[in-house]
Amino acid sequence: MKSNLSAFLLLFLLLLHQSLFAKAGIVSSLPKIVSVAIKRFKGKISPKEIMNHIPDLNFSSPQQNQTLQEIKGLSRIKEYFYNFGYLQYSETFDDILDQPTVSAIQTYQQSFNLQVTGHLNNETLQLILLPRCAVPDRNFDYDFTENVSWPKAGNQWSQKKNLTYGFLPESDIPDNAKKVFGQAFTRWANATGRLNLTQTNYTDADIKVGFYVLDDVYDFDVDVFGISFIREESPFSVKTAEIRLNANRSWALPSENNSLSWEDDVLDLESVTMHEIGHLLGFDHSFLHESVMYPYILPSQQRKIQLSNFDKNNIFQQYNNARSGYCGNWRVLVIITLSLGFGYMVLLA
Ligand SMILES: *[C@@H]1O[C@H](CO)[C@@H](O)[C@H](O)[C@H]1NC(C)=O
Ligand SMILES: *[C@@H]1O[C@H](CO)[C@@H](O)[C@H](O)[C@H]1NC(C)=O
Ligand SMILES: *[C@@H]1O[C@H](CO)[C@@H](O)[C@H](O)[C@H]1NC(C)=O
Ligand SMILES: *[C@@H]1O[C@H](CO)[C@@H](O)[C@H](O)[C@H]1NC(C)=O
Ligand SMILES: *[C@@H]1O[C@H](CO)[C@@H](O)[C@H](O)[C@H]1NC(C)=O
Ligand SMILES: *[C@@H]1O[C@H](CO)[C@@H](O)[C@H](O)[C@H]1NC(C)=O
Ligand SMILES: *[C@@H]1O[C@H](CO)[C@@H](O)[C@H](O)[C@H]1NC(C)=O
Ligand SMILES: *[C@@H]1O[C@H](CO)[C@@H](O)[C@H](O)[C@H]1NC(C)=O
Ligand SMILES: *[C@@H]1O[C@H](CO)[C@@H](O)[C@H](O)[C@H]1NC(C)=O
Ligand SMILES: *[C@@H]1O[C@H](CO)[C@@H](O)[C@H](O)[C@H]1NC(C)=O
Ligand SMILES: [Zn+2]
Repeated sequence: MKSNLSAFLLLFLLLLHQSLFAKAGIVSSLPKIVSVAIKRFKGKISPKEIMNHIPDLNFSSPQQNQTLQEIKGLSRIKEYFYNFGYLQYSETFDDILDQPTVSAIQTYQQSFNLQVTGHLNNETLQLILLPRCAVPDRNFDYDFTENVSWPKAGNQWSQKKNLTYGFLPESDIPDNAKKVFGQAFTRWANATGRLNLTQTNYTDADIKVGFYVLDDVYDFDVDVFGISFIREESPFSVKTAEIRLNANRSWALPSENNSLSWEDDVLDLESVTMHEIGHLLGFDHSFLHESVMYPYILPSQQRKIQLSNFDKNNIFQQYNNARSGYCGNWRVLVIITLSLGFGYMVLLA
């Protein structure tokens, strides 16, 4: 993937929406949920429609050589695979099912632990159509050629131990929602055992949080719930981070968990916040369902705020090794995983 192109995409998004501050669609009552949900179905391709466009593919015979067939709508799937790191860039994405696309489908299926068929089968399309994070899954760079970069594991954008976050005033985020953001920051701070994350005003904040219209992050239909990125500002190359959540969605507070509804497209604010903060603290996407860094919101996991054992392991490796030198003894890791797992189970009980 051409990294400078994705950087350009990011820049385009920033320029386009610099002034388009939108109000947060925080859920407060049921009627609002319904009215916002209706808006969203407009212009979205359903899995059924995509299926209708690929009638020539016989999913029950994976051996059949289906390359070089033309499939209406495939160009959009190619763009999707390109943007999230599964397919090389091409000047024009056409509707021809070529070998690189088949390989991309296979890589995608393998990554997400789906049956590897190389076909756009139902299982694969269902996943593609779920709401997801805008940060790519693979093949992307930590690269500031356009003054903005994706956050990427292994590249610390700030050396500060005291990090601050602040809310975009134009988003008019209600206090109870700010509290939810605060809880997510605290949960991460607790888990790292090293960071001190506190609130300050938007201008001063290291991590700036707001709600934005994200319709054009990608210029094709992809249901993006949020994005996080790093910005490098002149003249001193100071780096700040941003978390932008989709203002065109309804967001439920933890106390409104009974209004979480897959049909009405209401997303859990705390879960998405946990995910985006994770990027800024040094974590890439994980393909494990239980990880908060899983890029999609699964219908079965609309609310997922607890760090999984996998996440805790990652945090341990990154934050504790950095302090006390490399701790390469896997036995230590296993014991800590087990004890964390046990602690988690005790909490659940
Ligand atoms: C699909 O492939 C299977 C196995 O090769 C075959 O039995 C079936 O008739 C094919 N269906 C169509 C619609 O071509
Ligand atoms: C399928 O057909 C394409 C183009 O004709 C060819 O390049 C490819 O090797 C074939 N794949 C298989 C598995 O036969
Ligand atoms: C596709 O999968 C979804 C969920 O996994 C299921 O509800 C639906 O019936 C499937 N559709 C087809 C055409 O198999
Ligand atoms: C973090 O802030 C506290 C309180 O202001 C201060 O005592 C401490 O030295 C700071 N830590 C670092 C690493 O700057
Ligand atoms: C963070 O840790 C403190 C002290 O251990 C605890 O009181 C607090 O509830 C924790 N917060 C979260 C969100 O886990
Ligand atoms: C965390 O930062 C806040 C604000 O800078 C400060 O008041 C507090 O003392 C810090 N706590 C620690 C443990 O450094
Ligand atoms: C933000 O807070 C700092 C102190 O933490 C203060 O100096 C600054 O004037 C504040 N900026 C705004 C715009 O309120
Ligand atoms: C982008 O970064 C470069 C190099 O740090 C700097 O010269 C330039 O002024 C920056 N542009 C903006 C808009 O901050
Ligand atoms: C998204 O929200 C903005 C501001 O609230 C609104 O102007 C725009 O029409 C919305 N877009 C869609 C597709 O609903
Ligand atoms: C939903 O929220 C209520 C009240 O805050 C809480 O008692 C309940 O455990 C929550 N349910 C889930 C599944 O989180
Ligand atoms: Zn993400």
